[in-house]
Amino acid sequence: MTELKPARILAIETSCDETACAVIENGRELLASTVASQMEIHARYGGVFPEVASRQHVLAITPVIEQTLAAAHLSLGDVDAIAVTRGPGLAGSLVVGVNAAKGLALGTGLPLIGVNHLEGHLYSAWVYKTGDAPPDEPEFPLMALLVSGGHSELNLMTGHLEYERLGGTQDDASGEAFDKVARMLGLGYPGGPAIQKAAEGGDPNRFNFPRAKLDAPWNFSFSGLKTAVLREVRDLEKKSSTLPVTDLAASFQAAVVDVLFDKTMEAAREFNAKEILIAGGVSANQALRQAFLNQDEFKVHIPPLSLCTDNAAMIAAAGYYRFAYGQTSPLDMDVQATWPLS
Ligand code: KG4
Ligand code: ZN
Repeated sequence: MTELKPARILAIETSCDETACAVIENGRELLASTVASQMEIHARYGGVFPEVASRQHVLAITPVIEQTLAAAHLSLGDVDAIAVTRGPGLAGSLVVGVNAAKGLALGTGLPLIGVNHLEGHLYSAWVYKTGDAPPDEPEFPLMALLVSGGHSELNLMTGHLEYERLGGTQDDASGEAFDKVARMLGLGYPGGPAIQKAAEGGDPNRFNFPRAKLDAPWNFSFSGLKTAVLREVRDLEKKSSTLPVTDLAASFQAAVVDVLFDKTMEAAREFNAKEILIAGGVSANQALRQAFLNQDEFKVHIPPLSLCTDNAAMIAAAGYYRFAYGQTSPLDMDVQATWPLS
């Protein structure tokens, strides 16, 4: 492999409800990362309230950038390019980050790099904190499972920035299913961590929820599972005033994990992948992580917990590879609320 040019990238991420900034060296070494979460504000509404999210980004963006540069002991003059999440995400949220990045690029003359948020999630597997030993770099061809609040898909990565999309969800994303089922069980927002916690003491075999096998083998479907949980909850409520929340959470989580794990393993075998990568908010799930760690057929790359949910370190990492391959963006770049990886 040819050596890529060294560069230091500052990245901004505002696609949903986290205002984030990070600085990364050579695509992997994380010098500083700040994530200002709006979770508590949106929890009141049971989900992300788009206009509130945009306005919170407006308030947080400048302090978050300043704090990140201060933590890295750097100024803008020490940076080689500005990366920013261009999409997919909430348009009103993306606009705040993209305009901030344009302002920095215009003021400094540095190149601007628009990054796909999904590509960012995948590149979180390359990142390590400065001072830590670098983990092994993922090797291609790589079977990548991307599971977040808005996406659940399998991509074969054949090289840097090269993706063959094998399939995705036909209805709900896995993170969305976690959030909706958590609401049914009265567990609050965000649902993923709440279900995981409730599932800890539960019996994953008490309820045999469906594991959707589809004609398109690399697609996912989680709406049938969600409906099955709802039906079970309604039946149980007729019989008793207290729900077995821990067993319901554990059985639901087990069904999601089985499907994600089995399909990824099958796809890795079918497409002769060398290794597996999992990324996105749902990859923070302990049961899912454990399923992959318990097998030794494939080496698996799983980002540390802090890099699974939204952050700017992953955008800086992906931005570095785009920059190193000469792919910068014009200053009149628009946001792209819907933007498939390939
Ligand atoms: O990647 P992410 O932070 O944002 C998007 O790009 O969507 O993913 C957020 C999703 C939410 O649906 C959240 O419930 C889920 O990731 N999530 C989890 C866990 N932590 C976050 N799902 C299951 N278990 C978790 N521990
Ligand atoms: Zn995300």
